[in-house]
Amino acid sequence: ARTAAVIPAAGRGVRLGPGAPKALRALNGTPMLIHAVRAMAASRAVSLVVVVAPPEGAAEVKNLLDAHALPERTDYLVVPGGETRQESVRLGLDALPDDIATVLVHDAARPLVPVDTVDAVIEAVRDGAVAVVPAVPLADTVKQVEPREKGEPEPVLATPDRAALRAVQTPQGFARDTLLRAHRTVTGNVTDDASMVEQLGEPVVVVPGHEEAFKVTRPLDLVLAEAVLARRRV
Ligand code: C5P
Repeated sequence: ARTAAVIPAAGRGVRLGPGAPKALRALNGTPMLIHAVRAMAASRAVSLVVVVAPPEGAAEVKNLLDAHALPERTDYLVVPGGETRQESVRLGLDALPDDIATVLVHDAARPLVPVDTVDAVIEAVRDGAVAVVPAVPLADTVKQVEPREKGEPEPVLATPDRAALRAVQTPQGFARDTLLRAHRTVTGNVTDDASMVEQLGEPVVVVPGHEEAFKVTRPLDLVLAEAVLARRRV
C-alpha cells in the first residue's frame, strides 16, 4: 500500500501582503510550493504528490512542476482547489488512486519541513495510528480572551497550562479511510484536518514537530524562511 501527500495550495495568502497567491511567491528564487513539493517527495515513502492549485491557476502550477527538478520516483498530480482549505483538501483526496492507504496533508505554506519529520509522521501511521500530527511546545504563554473589535482591549478569560499545549504543524498523516470519512461527515469551520478526525471520535496522536516546519504567514516569515534556506546551503 502506498503513501500520497496532498498539498492544499489554493489560498490567497492575504496576511502576507499584496501579490501572487502565497504558494507561488518565491523563496530564494524558487516558488514556495516547489519547496513544499520537494519536502514531501524527499521522503522515499511518498510515491504520489497531489497539488491543489488556485482554481484559475492549475495550468500555471502544472507548468511550474514541469519546470523544476523533482525526484523521479514520485508521481505528481495537479487539481483545482475550492473556496476553503477544507474543500481544497477534499478535492485533492478525490484524486487519489485506490492503492493509497496512507495520506499526508501538507500546507504549501510550510515549505521547509525536514524529511525526518515527514518520515516520523508516516511511520506512526504505518504503526497503526489513524491520525498523526507533528507539533512543538509553545514559547509564548497563551491567554483565552473575549474577542473585541480591532484595537479595543480584550478581557482575559483564562490562562491554559502551557505545558499541556502544542502548536501543530503539517504534514498531518492519516489512514486514508479515516480521513475520507472525516471529510464526508464533518462540516463547519476547521483549521486543520486532524480536528475533523477528532470530531469523529477517533484518536489523534502527536509526534515531535520541527521549528523549521513553521508556517509562512506574515512578511517576517519570508525573511526567516530565506535565512533558513541560506543556512542549509552552507
Ligand atoms: O490560510 P491558511 O494559511 O490557513 O492556509 C493553509 C493552506 O491551505 C495554504 O497552503 C493555502 O494555500 C491552503 N488553502 C487552500 N484553499 C483555500 C484556502 C487555503 O488550498 N481555499
